[in-house]
Amino acid sequence: MGSKRHARGVREPTGRFLEIAEREVGRIILDIHDGPVQNIFAALSQLYVVQKRMAQQPSPPGEELERVRRSIGLLENALNDIRTFMGAFRPPEFERRDLVSILEGLVIQHEELTGNTVSLVLDGELPAVPLPVKISLYRILQEALSNAVRHGSANQHSILLRSEGHSIMMEVADNGRGFDVAAVMQRPLAGHFGLEGMHERVILLGGSLSIESSPGLGTRVCVEIPVAARPAATPLPS
Ligand SMILES: Nc1ncnc2c1ncn2[C@@H]1O[C@H](COP(=O)(O)OP(=O)(O)OP(=O)(O)O)[C@@H](O)[C@H]1O
Ligand SMILES: [Mg+2]
Repeated sequence: MGSKRHARGVREPTGRFLEIAEREVGRIILDIHDGPVQNIFAALSQLYVVQKRMAQQPSPPGEELERVRRSIGLLENALNDIRTFMGAFRPPEFERRDLVSILEGLVIQHEELTGNTVSLVLDGELPAVPLPVKISLYRILQEALSNAVRHGSANQHSILLRSEGHSIMMEVADNGRGFDVAAVMQRPLAGHFGLEGMHERVILLGGSLSIESSPGLGTRVCVEIPVAARPAATPLPS
């Protein structure tokens, strides 16, 4: 009672766009890894040497040594930030693994990062899940868990996965403070892309998404995506 529900409609299904987008993300991650990360690491290695040599001098230059130490700290922080970012965005072998194991991996990662508890319940058997649907459900779960912590200060999450007819359903609930969904959806995007991204992903696959929440109560994100057998897509050029 008193909770607000927000739902969006259905558009022409196309999984190909999501598959291409995910490959692009993979390429960007590799470029970051092979470019800036290697350079930061090279700079750090040089600074470690300089720091050691300075410290070994008969009368070490205190101020300069302190500057080098601070620069090392900044670069180490930058490397850690980039590693965390890359970990969050690296696709976990979507093609080879099944949906449940992919989502379980995300759940474990979230529990380790936040100390929260996450229950993942599989209600019955799931049909074969096409790659674009796996990608979308993974990204939506990632965003829902992160929003719950960042905005709702939730410390518990529960995920329910089930299949109904030719659709797969995922519900992600949190025990956070909740929010006014209609008010948030009406305001301009202005730096808030998470919920809009969830909607876009689901709509591209011909599904629907609804969010139930209200201030003071938790939030529940419900996704339904059709997984009925369709003609196989032409493989993408690698
Ligand atoms: N689970 C939640 N609990 C409480 N508030 C939420 C929750 N999910 C979303 N919100 C509210 O909805 C707003 C929009 O969420 P959205 O994910 O679109 O953007 P964001 O998280 O602020 O930014 P981004 O996802 O782009 O980093 C949030 O700023 C927050 O106020
Ligand atoms: Mg968000």
